[in-house]
Order: sequence, then structure tokens, then C-alpha cells
Amino acid sequence: MIESNVSKQSYELLFEAINVGSKTHLKETLEYLLPSKKIADSNIGKKQIQYFESVNLIQQPYSNIVEIGCGDGELTKILSEEFPESNIIGVDRNKDLIEKNKRKFNQKNIQFICEDIQNESKKYFGDLVVGLHTCGDLTDESIDIVILSNSDIIITPCCYGKLTKNRYEYSKNNENIISKVKKLEGLQKQGRETYTDLIRESYRLLINIDRGLKLKTYGFDAEIVRLIPQKQIIKNKKQRLSTLNQTIIGTKQW
Ligand SMILES: C[S@@+](CC[C@H](N)C(=O)[O-])C[C@H]1O[C@@H](n2cnc3c(N)ncnc32)[C@H](O)[C@@H]1O
Repeated sequence: MIESNVSKQSYELLFEAINVGSKTHLKETLEYLLPSKKIADSNIGKKQIQYFESVNLIQQPYSNIVEIGCGDGELTKILSEEFPESNIIGVDRNKDLIEKNKRKFNQKNIQFICEDIQNESKKYFGDLVVGLHTCGDLTDESIDIVILSNSDIIITPCCYGKLTKNRYEYSKNNENIISKVKKLEGLQKQGRETYTDLIRESYRLLINIDRGLKLKTYGFDAEIVRLIPQKQIIKNKKQRLSTLNQTIIGTKQW
């Protein structure tokens, strides 16, 4: 598995690369911090791949796995099949989706709960929290939950442009980072090779390193790995690579 350990040093390395302002330097730094997995071209383009990637990152059995923001329940279903001995709980605040999931999936070890994790007590949280495409603050709320419940976490954030500023206390540069990432998130038309994309990915990584540092402060081992990018068809029929590719892994140490 490719992974980069979360450290203040990686934070500084990345910040320096942004400041130096050379595309090559920035690209090399990102590749060093987040090396890519090799994957057959034929497999790229299926959202399924991100589900399986997420499942592959689970390296030990867990009794209770909670998927936050489970949406249409596809990953929840795969988790229940891959880990038949575990209880799998899919949580989402969208009532319609949860009702649909309850009708659609009948695996014995699966349960769906309609809750807004911002509001509810954390009573159902298990020993592993999984999240895929956890928008904006949902990633940070999930991190807060695992800190409270001492569970491990494997989470792939998205929608960095929706983040609120005041969550970030682990880096003095965070206000700056959030405002930069908000501006860059709007620019979706390029492929991954443009300078804007490199910078946007860097800012996302800075945010995720911050999240990892928070986990470390609370006794977790933290890593960031790169999920395989997914191709998406956009309106003009051109394909682009999704930049949803950074996954944070937090493993409780003490
Ligand atoms: C981008 S979707 C991802 C769905 C699914 N994980 C996937 O990969 O297809 C994010 C999901 O998180 C849910 N969500 C957002 N904020 C939430 C919250 N505070 N509590 C519970 N669910 C939330 C949304 O309803 C939505 O279904």
C-alpha cells in the first residue's frame, strides 16, 4: 500500500513547494508525499473501484463498522459481504435514502440508521468508522466521533470548498489554506496536470495533514494514502480525472 505518514515535516515540505512556485517541484513533492498506485486502464472509470479500494484499506477484522454518510448504501453492502462476521451500520441524514436502503439490502449483518451526526448522540459508533465522499465538515465531524469513541477511521473527504474556517486549530496557516482551497475548488475544468490542479491538491493535502495531526494528538497513528482516481463524464462529454483521491487512515494507538 502506498502511504505517507502525516507529520509536521510533510506539512512544511508541501508549504515550501507551494511557496517556491515551481510546477515541477510541486509535482515531485506531491508524488513523494502521495505516490500513485498502478492500475489497469480498463478498471478506471468505475465508481466501484473506490468502494473496493476503501475496503482494501481495512487491514484487520472489526466487530462493528460504521459507515458515515452512506448515501445509496453501495459501500455498506460491500462491507457487509466482505466482513460477514462484523456488524455493519450505514448512517445518513437523508431519510429517503435510508428507507430505500432498508428495502434494497437484506444482508443479515447490515443496519441502516437515519441520523445527522452533527446532532445525535454517538451511541452506535463502532470500532471502525468508514466514510467515502464525506463532504466538507462531515470529515471533521467523523474525526471528532472517533476521537470520542476510540475507534479507528478510514475516510475519504470531498467538497473541501464547503469547509468552515473555525475548525482548524492545528496549523497557523489554516485560515489561509481554507480560503485558498475555497477559491480553487470552483475551478473544475482542468485535468490533473495543470498547475491549478497541483496547487489545489496540495491545499487539500495540507488540510488532510492537519486532520492527521489532530488524530495524532489524540493518540492515533495517522497516514494519508491516495485512492485510485475515478474518471467522470462531464457535460461536454470529455473525461476528466476526479480529484477525490486522498484518504486519511487513523489507527488508535493508546
Ligand atoms: C457525497 S455523499 C456520499 C455518499 C456515499 N458515501 C458515496 O460515496 O456514494 C455524502 C452523504 O453524506 C450525507 N451526510 C452529509 N452530512 C451528514 C451528516 N451531518 N450526518 C449524516 N449524514 C450526512 C449526505 O446525506 C450524503 O448522502
